[in-house]
Amino acid sequence: TEPLRLGIAGLGTVGIGVIKIVQKQAELLTARTGRQITITAVSARSRDKDRGVNLSKFAWEDDPVALAKRDDVDVFVELMGGSDGPAKAATEAALALGKHVVTANKAMLAVHGQALALEAEAHGVQLRFEAAVAGGIPVIKSLTESLAANQITRVMGVMNGTCNYILTRMESAGLPYETVFDEANALGYLEADPTLDVGGIDAGHKLAILASIAYGTQVDFNGIEIEGIERVSIEDIRYAGDMGYRIKLLGVAQMTGRGMESRMSPCLVPANSPLGTLEGPTNMCILEGDSVGQIVLRGAGAGEGPTASAVMGDVCDIARGINLPVFGQPSTTLRQAPAARSTVA
Ligand code: NDP
Ligand code: HSE
Repeated sequence: TEPLRLGIAGLGTVGIGVIKIVQKQAELLTARTGRQITITAVSARSRDKDRGVNLSKFAWEDDPVALAKRDDVDVFVELMGGSDGPAKAATEAALALGKHVVTANKAMLAVHGQALALEAEAHGVQLRFEAAVAGGIPVIKSLTESLAANQITRVMGVMNGTCNYILTRMESAGLPYETVFDEANALGYLEADPTLDVGGIDAGHKLAILASIAYGTQVDFNGIEIEGIERVSIEDIRYAGDMGYRIKLLGVAQMTGRGMESRMSPCLVPANSPLGTLEGPTNMCILEGDSVGQIVLRGAGAGEGPTASAVMGDVCDIARGINLPVFGQPSTTLRQAPAARSTVA
């Protein structure tokens, strides 16, 4: 069998993690997929940066679109980020040429996921994005494969590790929001634009993706009610604790009589519930289906190893020839209702 050749655009935290796995696990990947997985070309903004791995065996492209179009690239791996710009242009170029795409780019998928998925389907190729929601947690596979026989009634969870770190650290150290925000920044947890994290937008992107998959349609990201954690005070956290609750930035998308309600906001959760036990920069996704009941998935929602693990899981599926429609067709029957504000998980 021919090797599966990857072109990787974006050599930051996740891109370098992917290169390390391809290099370190070459034999295991071949044994498990029946194909050799190789990297032929890479792209980033700066060619000269020392990234701690040897890139000399890979062809270099300054332009990610040119990388996506290369004849020696079978799978375009998009790890640059940004909802539009080069990430979207290169993804579209790859799909148009009948190449599979694997991406971790939640911002792009929350807005353009359905259109890109239809483009992939039209060209008979795969668009995969397990890493885009909750990093290393296999939540998309769980929904699309393991729970395929269920009507999904609710998806919810803590999907931004930075916010969970800030809230739990405020609680454990008794420190105000501003101090812990600076701490999170020093630890490198925050996105380049921190309002994406603390404003709930990053988590909102992830909820839009999960809800789109769970309910088989494109969920309008702008229709999700989003409130971040900037206004949560140490007093709020203490009062919640006195009543046996903790505050979490919780995303919920559920079917109700009014249609699908979705929101991302600080919520009270019982301290002794699974969500209430979540500490630090961790994620938890809770899936509910009519046959299976409730499933709780917990793990690392970010970082080099966990996120690259999810990217490579998708690459392995493509190497094995697994062909999976992920988003459903646009639905005219799903009503997206404005969210009610009172649910406690
Ligand atoms: P980084 O900021 O660490 O890396 C981004 C990379 O993309 C850099 O190598 C940068 O080049 C390159 N890049 C940016 N713009 C361009 C451009 N216009 N042309 C070519 N290359 C470009 O990001 P991450 O690795 O953290 O994240 C990558 C993706 O994965 C994002 O979509 C992110 O949301 C997603 N993700 C990240 C997670 C994480 O834990 N980090 C978790 C889950 C998803 P250069 O290095 O030269 O500046
Ligand atoms: N900034 C994100 C988080 C990275 O803290 O969860 C992973 O998507």
